[in-house]
Amino acid sequence: MTDPAIELTGIVKRYGAHAALDGVSLSVAKGEFTALVGGSGSGKTTLLKTINRLVSPDAGEVRVLGANVRTSEPHSLRRKIGYVFQEVGLFPHLTVAENIAITPKLLGWDKSRIEPRIANLLGLVDLPLSVATRAPSELSGGQRQRVGVARALAAEPALMLMDEPFGALDPLTRDALGSDYRALHERLGLTTVMVTHDMAEAVLLADRIVVLKDGRIVADGAPADLLANTTDPDVRALLEAPKRQAERLSAKLAGVS
Ligand SMILES: Nc1ncnc2c1ncn2[C@@H]1O[C@H](COP(=O)(O)OP(=O)(O)O)[C@@H](O)[C@H]1O
Ligand SMILES: [Mg+2]
Repeated sequence: MTDPAIELTGIVKRYGAHAALDGVSLSVAKGEFTALVGGSGSGKTTLLKTINRLVSPDAGEVRVLGANVRTSEPHSLRRKIGYVFQEVGLFPHLTVAENIAITPKLLGWDKSRIEPRIANLLGLVDLPLSVATRAPSELSGGQRQRVGVARALAAEPALMLMDEPFGALDPLTRDALGSDYRALHERLGLTTVMVTHDMAEAVLLADRIVVLKDGRIVADGAPADLLANTTDPDVRALLEAPKRQAERLSAKLAGVS
């Protein structure tokens, strides 16, 4: 057996008296695409941030590719883990190329290595080379999010953590980015944990869905298995939402024609 890509054991994170994470254990295999879902405030962002040590848990242990993150060197973690933020988070005063080069520069790569890498990354996320010299404000929302993905991939991480990466986009752009990203996940052999509040997105993109509620995992499995097996009424309602929506849509469209 190879090491799991990510292993969380008994993670607790408190803010004052409130436990944002209340005993979370989770093992993610290499190559897996996991969707992390749950209501607002259920602990999704906190869980993601314990993996790359933006949040330090009060109890429990986090291992990434076999190494304990508490004792790992920050640069080595940054190289292993790409992070796509909830609000893109491109620096407005830097060009697209400069935004993408942030981590490689921190890691001390020289220019002769960074420049071809930027061209290569723009190709990977399907953006023209001409955007490299532009400011983020000159791009569409979808293009900006593609830059966010390129920036996260810059140092060839094995793991990608994505926090509602496509949440602010219109539905068509969102679909295109989601399926393009899934293809990249395959092609680059990544391990991905993606937070989303869109259950249809989770079902369509992920191999596995983990449901958080009040800082605890209340369901975990392949999309079809979850729906067949869950006894939690909230989880069932969440999982059935896309199906109900599709049924309402087709009923309405049938009525119109
Ligand atoms: N830095 C913080 N300080 C205080 N409370 C926080 C902080 N970060 C998160 N929380 C609280 O922890 C809980 C989980 O938050 P979060 O992980 O952001 O949830 P989600 O991403 O699922 O919406 C919420 O109740 C939130 O208010
Ligand atoms: Mg969040």
